Amino acid sequence: MTNIIPVINNKGGVAKTITAVTTASILAQKGYKTLLLDLDQQANATAAVGVKPEKKTLTIYDIFFNGKNIDDVAMETKFDNLYLIPSSGAFVSALSKLTVEMIPDKDNILTRAISSSTAEYDFIIIDCPPALDQIITNAIMPATNIVIATSPRKFSTDGIKRILVFIKNYEPYMQNYNGFGTLITLHEKRRNVINGVVKSIKQNHFLNAYESLIAKSTLVEQSTFAGIPINHFSPDCQAAITYKKFVDELIENCR
Ligand SMILES: Nc1ncnc2c1ncn2[C@@H]1O[C@H](COP(=O)(O)OP(=O)(O)OP(=O)(O)O)[C@@H](O)[C@H]1O
Ligand SMILES: [Mg+2]
Repeated sequence: MTNIIPVINNKGGVAKTITAVTTASILAQKGYKTLLLDLDQQANATAAVGVKPEKKTLTIYDIFFNGKNIDDVAMETKFDNLYLIPSSGAFVSALSKLTVEMIPDKDNILTRAISSSTAEYDFIIIDCPPALDQIITNAIMPATNIVIATSPRKFSTDGIKRILVFIKNYEPYMQNYNGFGTLITLHEKRRNVINGVVKSIKQNHFLNAYESLIAKSTLVEQSTFAGIPINHFSPDCQAAITYKKFVDELIENCR
């Protein structure tokens, strides 16, 4: 069975993309056949694995609005076992098109596209835009697990509570859903304020926080510019090490 895992948070800049890209890249490096699906018109995940879509490249837009399925659009990347559904700026109109166009069962466009795939991925990791809208509904409907990425800042917990209410609305219809976990990103252990927030997130058991805390590291920024995920760019840096621990926890959750 394919594990389908969207990385979500309606807050921007909390490392959703870095988490999706790094997680997919580590899973691929471990030998799992992995698809990174870029659901964000910013196309940051696409760039982060070194892909620049050309005009004729099929993208996530073609899955939503031109009847393409996953196998039509998925492309190889320069990394073994890692495949990509790219995004592009064209996807900026997706939400308004979803609202006005006559498309049947608009919450399940992605579920249909994935279920018709014969590629037998072990993992599909979905990088989501900072939103809680019908695009995100499409990402969570086929989910087996959800990762909520959060930076440990004031009001983080309140934000996650709102996300959990959003998920709850759809849970009765999410046929393969096993649960969510909260991943704390951008962690700086020398800052007391941050440590306080981390402690409170971990003590709130309903947030299902992962043990692993993702360290902040300037190398991550550099790896994004290079279009090389951090586990390949600087495998021994603190961020790469903590992401590998997180991926082990995630795999454990998928069993
Ligand atoms: N572990 C890390 N260490 C240092 N910088 C990081 C780390 N993770 C992410 N960043 C940086 O933080 C910024 C935001 O990360 P990212 O783009 O992954 O967030 P996002 O939640 O996807 O943002 P958006 O909501 O805009 O899609 C980027 O500049 C990224 O390079
Ligand atoms: Mg992003």
